Amino acid sequence: MRSNAELPKKLFIKTYGCQMNAYDSERMADVLIPHGFEAVDNPESADLVILNTCHIREKASEKVYSDLGRLRDIKRDRGPSGSEMMIAVAGCVAQAEGDEILRRAPVVDLVFGPQAYHRLPEMLTRAQTFNARGGRERPVDTDFAASEKFDTLPDSQQTPGAAAFLSIQEGCDKFCTYCVVPYTRGAEYSRPVAPILAEAKRLAAKGVREITLLGQNVNAYHGNAGKGETASLGQLIRRLAEIDGLARIRYTTSYPGEVDDDLISAHADVPQLMPYLHLPVQSGSDRILNVMNRRHTAEFYLALVARFRAARPGIALSSDFIVGFPGETNAEFEATLDLVRQVGFASAFSFKFSARPGTPAASMDGQIPEQIKMERLAALQALLEKQRQAFNAACVGRSLPVLFEKPGRHAGQIIGRSPWLQAVFAEGGAELIGQIIPTRIIATGSNSLRGRIHTDTQIHSETKAAAE
Ligand code: SAH
Ligand code: SF4
Ligand code: F3S
Repeated sequence: MRSNAELPKKLFIKTYGCQMNAYDSERMADVLIPHGFEAVDNPESADLVILNTCHIREKASEKVYSDLGRLRDIKRDRGPSGSEMMIAVAGCVAQAEGDEILRRAPVVDLVFGPQAYHRLPEMLTRAQTFNARGGRERPVDTDFAASEKFDTLPDSQQTPGAAAFLSIQEGCDKFCTYCVVPYTRGAEYSRPVAPILAEAKRLAAKGVREITLLGQNVNAYHGNAGKGETASLGQLIRRLAEIDGLARIRYTTSYPGEVDDDLISAHADVPQLMPYLHLPVQSGSDRILNVMNRRHTAEFYLALVARFRAARPGIALSSDFIVGFPGETNAEFEATLDLVRQVGFASAFSFKFSARPGTPAASMDGQIPEQIKMERLAALQALLEKQRQAFNAACVGRSLPVLFEKPGRHAGQIIGRSPWLQAVFAEGGAELIGQIIPTRIIATGSNSLRGRIHTDTQIHSETKAAAE
């Protein structure tokens, strides 16, 4: 029997999807820890399991239900004490499906969306009470006010690593025809400048050297800067660069159609802004871009890349692609390959179009057969992989500043990130974690670089100019 007297104590959060969700999961822990919870790293021993879900493609979304099946088994295997285990579904599937989840998965005790988790303690208390008919109450909270969440979230008490995320913008008003984000995250909202700077200063004081500013459409940022003024992303970056100890700034994800001069010039002027940019393009065909409602052409994208490269020579690009969008012809797919050849990407994510309920593209004519989607994805990925490996191979022999973040797989090894976000392994002591150290790249692995730490300042300064 479920007891009313005590709240569950051990917390396990599983995160799916994008970095916004990773950030939200940490903040959920921040909300719950002051209420007597502690984080554990497996669901078996947990009193509260939260699945922080992603709705972006069908596969991600359906994974939640298979995981819920496993949790049901864990709960059953725990016997009578299993009834104390609570299961919550959070994030974008929760927002999109709401109480449908309760119907499909009786094991779920509560459901809450991305803008509601500041109310978690209250929801948990409700979920633990019995209603008049003797059943349990299963709260569903999919309210949409992002501003309220940010106003009420407590400061984090957790110890961050050397690199941290900072959410500055939420939601999206772009309505690309394939995408669920405008429905799961709501309208665009920018946090004001002051609390962002305060959060960044707190992180820096705790030893964070690198922050990644997060937003679904992060360059739509237009935060209240006080005195009736509004700050753009470029202006915010300049303010953040003044914070002592913050050596690296990144931002993701940007929307090409809304990049402004301010942001491009920040890449020229702010040395802390890393020379790496995730700039999703989705397709190289103007017709497809138009039906996707991306609001720009391939030529516009290429010109934008050229402007970033002029502002910051050596900047590396990454992107997102969708193949097999409804109506995509072979020639239109070839246009995507062409664009990839013209840009040259350091890394990229590519996906088969997934028809998402409620989006315009799901009911468009000309849905592409799975077999063709698979072939196109394989061809695109082969090209992108070749480019990635060429980019990595070109790093061998160079000295790069690496921010070391954590111990490696074996003793005496540490892992960090290059300016271009490549994982770099090197021999070194734990005392180097949290430092940015010149590291000569000596080999490439399948998903990482191997480096040797050196302190030859002459080599460092000479290659630093090339790398940053
Ligand atoms: N805000 C970002 C992207 C968020 S979603 C942007 O505007 O670029 C991350 C990526 O998932 C998208 O860039 C897109 O490539 C992919 N994606 C989104 N919806 C999809 C769908 N229905 N099918 C396949 N891929 C999709
Ligand atoms: Fe989705 Fe488009 Fe918004 Fe990106 S810009 S989150 S792809 S609707
Ligand atoms: Fe997924 Fe929601 Fe992020 S749908 S990609 S978790 S915004």
